[in-house]
Amino acid sequence: MNVSGRPFRTIWPSADGAAIEIIDQTRLPHAFVIARLATLNDAAEAIRAMLVRGAPLIGATAAWGLWLALRADASNAALDHAHATLLATRPTAVNLRWALDRVRAELVALAPAARADAARRMAMEICDEDVALNRGLAAAGLPLIQAIAARKKSGERVNVLTHCNAGWLATVDVGTATAPLYAAHAAGIPLHVWVDETRPRNQGASLTAWELLNQGVSHTVIVDNAGGHLMQHDQVDLVIVGTDRTAANGDVCNKIGTYLKALAAHDNGVPFYVAVPSPSIDWSLQDGRKIPIEERSAAEVSHLTGRRSDGTVTTVALTPEGSPVANPAFDVTPARLVTGLITERGVTEASAAGLRRLFPEHRVG
Ligand code: MRU
Repeated sequence: MNVSGRPFRTIWPSADGAAIEIIDQTRLPHAFVIARLATLNDAAEAIRAMLVRGAPLIGATAAWGLWLALRADASNAALDHAHATLLATRPTAVNLRWALDRVRAELVALAPAARADAARRMAMEICDEDVALNRGLAAAGLPLIQAIAARKKSGERVNVLTHCNAGWLATVDVGTATAPLYAAHAAGIPLHVWVDETRPRNQGASLTAWELLNQGVSHTVIVDNAGGHLMQHDQVDLVIVGTDRTAANGDVCNKIGTYLKALAAHDNGVPFYVAVPSPSIDWSLQDGRKIPIEERSAAEVSHLTGRRSDGTVTTVALTPEGSPVANPAFDVTPARLVTGLITERGVTEASAAGLRRLFPEHRVG
């Protein structure tokens, strides 16, 4: 997507061929900084410290991390170590395990001397595939927005609420929840996006707003608690969110606060859709109860970082020193609250039968 009119992906091989480059998302929206990852530890740290984040981009970065590791040592032991190191970085997004297992399964069959080149090719393949999957989500989700637009008076905008950042910054390009939005915008549908700020790390306020601004999509940032009120007053036609892991029965794990949006949408008869590329489906889980929920640092809740009027970026304390803080980063929205899942193979009901119909090749459990 465009940054100041110039097209970017979120991750790419460096021009000198010796490293990977990423957009450092911890610096957005106040600075656009490109970071270089040259080693396994660079890649693991970039995921852990959330320079890259969002389930699909975490998976893609991990695949590149295997390449970085194998360039230095392509033995079985080094491959296992790199796989374990990357897998331990963040627990919730299943795309991480999906990407690591996929690359490792192919590499173990190869002689060590052939592994680094194969890992590079596979990492590139995962990146290109992610973009194609997201284009599939755009094609599947666009008719939902078109149908709402068709019921409106001419020129009246379609209001979509989204939570966290499931945009191009969370993927290699295009985004998941944003894919239908960008498609609707490109099709000339009058669109307005309510952007939940998404405490504590504010991925909505910092990242989704920055993305939409760069693409020229009309949007308004709201505090996380405003969504229910807007729904009660007919200000939201549709909710679309992303997912870090969706169980085989359609239970959806996503950024903390998603569940409350789903409850409010249910209470107000607002359709609640989840954009789910297939690598985000965990076929080994029959429901969402066993999805590991990442507990992140207390400082994300007790402190806030922002830009001062003189341009410097600073961090301030919000809570009284000594008040305990809890920071679960994700929650699970039960399938019964989800109107539908937008996948690259089409839209389906959030249920085991619905997912099985679209993905008959997968076995559950
Ligand atoms: O903690 P993050 O920023 O990695 O969490 C991201 C989200 O929860 C997104 O909504 C989810 O990954 C879907 S990304 C396409």
